[in-house]
Amino acid sequence: MSRKRYLVTGGAGFVGSHVVAALLERNADVVVLDNLSIGHRAAVLPGAELVVGDLADPSAVDALVGAGPWDAVFHFAALSLVGESVRLPFKYLLENGVNGIRLIDACVRHAVPRFVLSSTANLFGTPDRMPIDEEVRIDPASPYGESKFMIERALHWANEIHGLRSACLRYFNAAGADPQGRLGEDHNPETHLIPLAIDAVLGRRPALAIFGSDYATPDGTCIRDYVHVNDLADAHIRVLDQLDRRSVRYNVGTGQGYSVRDITEAVGRIAGRPVPYVMGQPRMGDAAILIAGAEALRADTGWIPQFTDLDEVVATAYRWREAHPGGYGDK
Ligand SMILES: NC(=O)c1ccc[n+]([C@@H]2O[C@H](COP(=O)([O-])OP(=O)(O)OC[C@H]3O[C@@H](n4cnc5c(N)ncnc54)[C@H](O)[C@@H]3O)[C@@H](O)[C@H]2O)c1
Repeated sequence: MSRKRYLVTGGAGFVGSHVVAALLERNADVVVLDNLSIGHRAAVLPGAELVVGDLADPSAVDALVGAGPWDAVFHFAALSLVGESVRLPFKYLLENGVNGIRLIDACVRHAVPRFVLSSTANLFGTPDRMPIDEEVRIDPASPYGESKFMIERALHWANEIHGLRSACLRYFNAAGADPQGRLGEDHNPETHLIPLAIDAVLGRRPALAIFGSDYATPDGTCIRDYVHVNDLADAHIRVLDQLDRRSVRYNVGTGQGYSVRDITEAVGRIAGRPVPYVMGQPRMGDAAILIAGAEALRADTGWIPQFTDLDEVVATAYRWREAHPGGYGDK
């Protein structure tokens, strides 16, 4: 069987770098396109080729997509600060939405057969039922979510009219890090709860701000669905088989929710001391509970999350962050 060849946009970022690792383990040829605005050169493992370039440059994107053939394009590159997108909506609609659609156009013109998109639970706004399966009404909570929906819609028509098969994976909260310790989460600014709580307990930042303790949840803090980044990577590999037959869209989460307090307590257990925190105001648009209904992904692909213990998820993130006080060290 010939070696598979994949193009991965945003493969120097958190989730993308873990998917690249999973593809390399399967002996694939992997080319990463990343402008390193957020991601890191050192997050692209040896064995993958890094092309430093910007999605906003249509001729560079066209040349790279045209340098196929590719078995699939994985599209991770995006801006993903929800709060920033509420202040600067057109930055997100243009940089994520329009640049993503241009990438799809290039894939259609160069006959790429499969496309896997990092989409988001933010598509579902404040859902009226839980867990959130694929039939819950789409009503993006922010311009960030809307920008992902723009890409999903473009993929719908790319499939209908040009036969480009796609998988839209709506992630809930990606968490943890490579258990082998090669890769981790390094965003600047960091907005994700687990790395923030780890940095607070390690004394690398002031006390963690918890946004709201009055939600309709058992302990009053928001509940989210944390899926280990290696399990997320596995979902990306598994959907490729589906794309031999049809386009798919899946919500990707464990189906298990943890509150902000559950997370800080888990980080405290791993660190051996409590996470210092202060209570802040609730943030506009934060839903009390977001839990994935990922039954369709499980039933169709046999995907089963391997990291089911919260402490184990947190421990992988903790180990990488503790060992890398300056992250990847390039920013
Ligand atoms: N991390 C999560 O919990 C989560 C949840 C839902 C959806 N997502 C989506 O998954 C994807 C990956 O998330 P992540 O946490 O790994 O993000 P990340 O910011 O770590 O990675 C994104 C990568 O894209 C690159 N990039 C950004 N703009 C680019 C451009 N114009 N041209 C080329 N490269 C560019 C960045 O340098 C970075 O390496 C994103 O699309 C994000 O919206 C993530």
